[in-house]
Amino acid sequence: MIARVLLPAGLQALQDRYEVRAGGLDSGRDDLLAIAPGASALVADPTVRIDAEILDACGDSLEVVANFAVGYDNIDLDACRQRGVVVTNTPDVLTEATAELALALTLAASRRMSEAERDLRAGRWHGWNPAAYRGIEIWGSTVGVVGMGRIGRRYAWLVRSLGATVVYSGPSAKPEEEEHLGARHVELGELLEASNVVSLHAPSRPETRHLIGAPELEAIGPAGVLVNTSRGPLVDSEALAAALESDKLGAAGLDVYENEPKVPRRLLDAPRCVLLPHIGSATVPARDGMARAAADNVIAVLEGREPPSRVV
Ligand code: DGY
Repeated sequence: MIARVLLPAGLQALQDRYEVRAGGLDSGRDDLLAIAPGASALVADPTVRIDAEILDACGDSLEVVANFAVGYDNIDLDACRQRGVVVTNTPDVLTEATAELALALTLAASRRMSEAERDLRAGRWHGWNPAAYRGIEIWGSTVGVVGMGRIGRRYAWLVRSLGATVVYSGPSAKPEEEEHLGARHVELGELLEASNVVSLHAPSRPETRHLIGAPELEAIGPAGVLVNTSRGPLVDSEALAAALESDKLGAAGLDVYENEPKVPRRLLDAPRCVLLPHIGSATVPARDGMARAAADNVIAVLEGREPPSRVV
């Protein structure tokens, strides 16, 4: 069962082997519950909540939930464990795409690109103005990477190659990154104070909810930039909008939101804010790679083999 869609790069392999039912891009909860009974595998994406109700709707036949994403905060892992259902994700294939988008947001927010383009399109550009749209440069700045996993590491490498100094936070120091990037492991508080740009690459968990709220935004400061390509709940969006409105934060670049696809009105109206619709992995190689990885995981489990990327 596909909840909701799987790209042809992965779908074909499943259709060649199994009967495939797909809810479709617009399928709602009830549509998915209706096609669930008897499914052996469930391919989900980050917008689909996989909980006890949907697992039970599939029934005892269900062997694997293959997420069509690297993040799996949409899945109730305990409910899967209790039912002996394997959970998989799609790491690696989207590392470059997501790190590059984080870099793009870093540059766009640092250079106030959305605001400048909006003004130009609306006829509000009245000629070159030396005082207008002044931002920050990555060269010579300090970039704080929150979460030095695959994507954080790649992003760190990209900003390092633009001349930034990298500090990072996370549960443990990574000696390899310290050696290759000259990156320094620090506590989150020190990272926020030290960085001109803070980019989030941590998973969404109860303990990371609103990791960045009003005090943290204040620590980043009026000249600082916040970038989030990980998951919306890491940032308190009301606090973020307030910090931008009151000039307590320099700028923000966001690809993810707390209640997608809803974007709070206050954020839409906030100044110096670049907003994208969760396109971190939206490149042809990444999305095709994710589709293939999801299919490979399903096939491995249904053939009794260890899946390439097991979460549970
Ligand atoms: C992921 O894989 O977790 C991404 O957010 C999907 O784009």
